[in-house]
Amino acid sequence: MQSDRREFLGLAAAPLILAASARGANDRLAYGLIGAGNRGRWLNRAFQKLGARCVALCDVYEPNLELVRKDSPPDVKTYVDYRELLAQPGIDFVVIATPDHHHCPNLLAALAAGKDVYLEKPLSVSLEESVRMVAAASQSRQIVQVGMQRRSMEFCIQVKRLVDEGILGKVSMAKALWNWHFAKPIDNSPLPGKLDWDRFLGSAPKRPLEPRRFRWWRGFWDYSGGNMTDQGTHLMDVIQWMTNSGPPRAAVCHGYLAKMIGAEVPDVFCAAFEYAHFMATWTLNYASS
Ligand SMILES: NC(=O)c1ccc[n+]([C@@H]2O[C@H](COP(=O)([O-])OP(=O)(O)OC[C@H]3O[C@@H](n4cnc5c(N)ncnc54)[C@H](O)[C@@H]3O)[C@@H](O)[C@H]2O)c1
Repeated sequence: MQSDRREFLGLAAAPLILAASARGANDRLAYGLIGAGNRGRWLNRAFQKLGARCVALCDVYEPNLELVRKDSPPDVKTYVDYRELLAQPGIDFVVIATPDHHHCPNLLAALAAGKDVYLEKPLSVSLEESVRMVAAASQSRQIVQVGMQRRSMEFCIQVKRLVDEGILGKVSMAKALWNWHFAKPIDNSPLPGKLDWDRFLGSAPKRPLEPRRFRWWRGFWDYSGGNMTDQGTHLMDVIQWMTNSGPPRAAVCHGYLAKMIGAEVPDVFCAAFEYAHFMATWTLNYASS
């Protein structure tokens, strides 16, 4: 069974699709989804296309739970508390797509329950959490994969090959850019459905319900590392991977809030990173028009 799981998650990492119809129901790995927002619903469809069986769903916002049910088998069980999902018998692995401040408690609980895990990026919201998570995964017998899909994308793999084969010569400077015409004030009107606000907050500081914190949690330091970690996991990870470098020796970043009024984190910033043998810059502009 263990080798089957390894095989399965290996397939999930590569762009291979195994039709659900190619396996009998009992041969197919069963999973539970924790966090059924935009990414969670996309992953739910993707894992079913890969041949896995969705048996449990968890979300603290009722409308999202209703939406994800539509793309799941009729006998799927639903939960508001992820610990109850983890206690359901017969689940081989869990897919975690909650806001970033839940990643650490979700992963630790899933490993303690003996589940393999596909965990969305970024790993966590702090280095301390990440160290605990890596240690827990290493000490367990479970497989943990983090959703850093750019490492599986053909165009990224080709660029890495160009660097590795020396065709580009010595890399002295890497530039990452993320330009979106995207930023606008965060909607703080009442939510149109039932939300378990205390469970959304989890281990974050307690405070009265503020709909915009739920709608755009990426905009608040209590629930994310802001746009730096939201998109940086993709861009800076790829730069470090392509150049075979470890973490930077030094980094500096300046930014400001241009248009996402009501949020806390910069929606425009410039960062510079000093690595042992090259420099990298990263600029993000969500107010690009
Ligand atoms: N790999 C990628 O390209 C990619 C793309 C988008 C998002 N993501 C990651 O996926 C995660 C989710 O992002 P999203 O865009 O789907 O956000 P979202 O806000 O659309 O969805 C988050 C969901 O989690 C639910 N939730 C909150 N607290 C919960 C709890 N305690 N238990 C269960 N459910 C809870 C929310 O109700 C919501 O439905 C983030 O970590 C994000 O960084 C990755």
